[in-house]
Amino acid sequence: MLRFDRQHLTQSDTLEFVSERDAIEELSDLFVFLADHDFAGYSPTYEQLARSIAANTQLLEFVLTSASPNTRRGRIPVLFFAATHDRILANPYSEIAAMYRGDSTGNPFPPFMDLVDKEREAIVTNMRTRSVQTNEAGRSSILSLAFGRARNGVVAPTTLFEIGPSAGLNLFFDLFRIDFMREDTLLACAGPQEASVRLTCDVRGPNLPPFPADQFTPISRSGIDPNPIDVRSEDERRWLQACVCWPGIADRPQRLAAALEVARTSPPHLISGDAVTDLGQALTQIPTSEHLIVFATWALAYINAEGRQKVLATIDELGTTRDLDFITFEEPRFTSWVEPADAEVFETYLGEGTPTQLSLRSWRGGVCTTTALAIAHPHGRWIHWLEENHG
Ligand SMILES: C[S@@+](CC[C@H](N)C(=O)[O-])C[C@H]1O[C@@H](n2cnc3c(N)ncnc32)[C@H](O)[C@@H]1O
Repeated sequence: MLRFDRQHLTQSDTLEFVSERDAIEELSDLFVFLADHDFAGYSPTYEQLARSIAANTQLLEFVLTSASPNTRRGRIPVLFFAATHDRILANPYSEIAAMYRGDSTGNPFPPFMDLVDKEREAIVTNMRTRSVQTNEAGRSSILSLAFGRARNGVVAPTTLFEIGPSAGLNLFFDLFRIDFMREDTLLACAGPQEASVRLTCDVRGPNLPPFPADQFTPISRSGIDPNPIDVRSEDERRWLQACVCWPGIADRPQRLAAALEVARTSPPHLISGDAVTDLGQALTQIPTSEHLIVFATWALAYINAEGRQKVLATIDELGTTRDLDFITFEEPRFTSWVEPADAEVFETYLGEGTPTQLSLRSWRGGVCTTTALAIAHPHGRWIHWLEENHG
């Protein structure tokens, strides 16, 4: 039987490439892939559940038929985990809720199945009406370095525009405290000392990132998302929690709650729309007197290949008329315009969360350059800077 491996994933555009295979078998492999690469050593409860789900044909059939037909197949397992977690949060006295909180231990699969049986309809509704919204503030540690690198030599006030911001938490990166460590040594820090959102990023590999000398305050914070999260709505905040707070990761709920509070103080300007069709119109509203940074983190993964090329074409067309930077923090297969980092670097970090590539495409005076900056943990826990001696 064909199993997923890194080579298949990097060579293919979407996980639908195996569509001639039995859909259940494919879905089972996806759960195993998540268990091996995203949950192992990070969220033991999700790892255990993913392996049990992968072996249960009846449950896989339920998952497959619950998703709407246009959901990208590769995203169905994460959507299912979020759809069930939402119901677990709504049933705080259930056995599985106690396990998710870490209040009790044991095999989570039987109480998980009890919950699925009890909440079948609500889970299906979630899967049909919601989308994956893992808005992870931890990515700000990685973005802060890319923003600093992009603004090298820029004096104009900078506006940030995010593709797929979800609730837009990373638009507030400058209000978070970020400590960059090498093992136990503090290398650099950024953001207010007293910030409620506190991030730590471990610097790995031979190169040091260019730590910005000072943090900048964006002149505006906006973005475009087909399902923007309204940080003032309790219901939407719970959906975000269901997506973001994988069981067993102690710091994520507190970090999410703190970041939501920051965003609630002065909500970002989030346009409800599709980046594939509506990005150009949104970006032309931004004055040319401002330096524009457009960024996408784990959002291009949710857009098909044709759509991603349209997004790039929109950015490039604008780049011929004004200076701008386009920062992406995505799996390399979703940014075909960037030369992927050496496969050996990826291999080093397999099993520590999907290694994610940070890249910068800059337009200056009508000239475009593209650089792979770093490989990092998808939630910003570590970074391996690729560029040497950037002056
Ligand atoms: C996994 S979440 C990532 C959220 C955020 N970028 C982060 O890194 O924390 C993916 C986001 O992409 C958005 N998205 C999906 N398709 C999109 C599209 N065509 N245009 C803009 N955003 C899209 C989703 O609604 C969702 O908010």
